[in-house]
Amino acid sequence: MTEAAIEIGSLPVPRHVAVIMDGNGRWAKARFLPRAIGHQRGSEAVREVTRAAADFGVEYLTLYAFSSENWKRPADEVGDLMGLLRIYLRREIGELDANGVCVRMIGNRGRLPRDVLALVDEAEARTRNNRRMTLTLAISYGGQDEIVMAARALAEDAVAGRIRPEQIDAALFASRLETAGIPDPDLVIRTSGEKRLSNFLLWQAAYAEFIFVDTLWPDFGRQELAAALDEYRARDRRFGARPE
Ligand code: FPP
Repeated sequence: MTEAAIEIGSLPVPRHVAVIMDGNGRWAKARFLPRAIGHQRGSEAVREVTRAAADFGVEYLTLYAFSSENWKRPADEVGDLMGLLRIYLRREIGELDANGVCVRMIGNRGRLPRDVLALVDEAEARTRNNRRMTLTLAISYGGQDEIVMAARALAEDAVAGRIRPEQIDAALFASRLETAGIPDPDLVIRTSGEKRLSNFLLWQAAYAEFIFVDTLWPDFGRQELAAALDEYRARDRRFGARPE
């Protein structure tokens, strides 16, 4: 490690942590269990990590629960994942609300089963004034789709004369993304040893730090999150600038 890194390397706790929760299937396979059990254990990890993140002072936690590409999985697996989301939204909302967690969803609402969407709407409405932590669930989410929708909205505004094209800058663009109002992630964690972004927060992760861990998502808990936050705090973030 360089001297500069040692000197600089004591960042505060990241305000926004985003997680690509990967490895539920491999966790189950290693135990000769059905994939559905892996996803079920994955949703237990969601509960533990959410509690831990709030305890550690993280202000925004974003979890990639279902990507726009996950619709291509076999219907029974999609059904299992939607079923877990239903159970999660019914069972956890009381505790999340009591703990001051504001729940939000990003992703394509139109593709969700109607009852899942109703539960999401209810969770958002019930927790909207909570301030301790914002938990954003990315469901049926794809970063490229999100960027295309923002570009389309701005193009419509320009055609209608509401904005001039030269007014479009990064800030205006970001205000049309689904994450408007949420600061960009400081840290993106991906579990299970894969080293890809998989269409997650493509715009927002421009200056994020990345931590890839081999742990499979169902085994990722409070301790693993604490270790990732420690690793983040030792990083040297420069946002493209030169160190002093
Ligand atoms: C990746 O495992 C994980 C997913 C596709 C979905 C993540 C879902 C959960 C953690 C459970 C439900 C979520 C909530 C919020 C209740 P994989 O199936 O791709 O694993 P593999 O790569 O080992 O096959």
